[in-house]
Amino acid sequence: MKILVINGPNLNMLGIREPDIYGRETYKSLLEKIESYCKAKSLDVEFFQSNHEGSLVDCIQEAYGRIDGIVINPGAYTHTSVAILDALKAVSIPAVEVHISEVDKREEFRQVSYVRAACIATVAGHGTDGYLEAIDILAENGAKK
Ligand code: DQA
Repeated sequence: MKILVINGPNLNMLGIREPDIYGRETYKSLLEKIESYCKAKSLDVEFFQSNHEGSLVDCIQEAYGRIDGIVINPGAYTHTSVAILDALKAVSIPAVEVHISEVDKREEFRQVSYVRAACIATVAGHGTDGYLEAIDILAENGAKK
């Protein structure tokens, strides 16, 4: 099973950006954590991060026919992007939405998620461990098929 982990804008700034909200773990160490988690579960994983909406859409499209599950933290595009929603719907690859922070308890604009409608589950407010939970959800979903 091949998993693609997509991170949107500013997630490359993890460890630096608002550590009281997003923690002190860097983006690099997050990728290392996910990589070793997947290795232990014999799952293939690849990563993509971009600050650009169109690049995120391209990445989702390029996953078609190649990737079995997507973990996506679209960052701020969560709350605005019909294009990312449509891309996820277009490829219809099982996807899990992840947010490091508890978006549903933050500002009102963060409580709206466009991508949620194309995802089989959402994990929010569990810090970076949420990415691992999302992988478990996808692995379980894949195993059921
Ligand atoms: C985030 C929450 C978003 O509202 C924010 O714009 C982010 C990160 C999270 O992981 O908690 O960039 O997706």
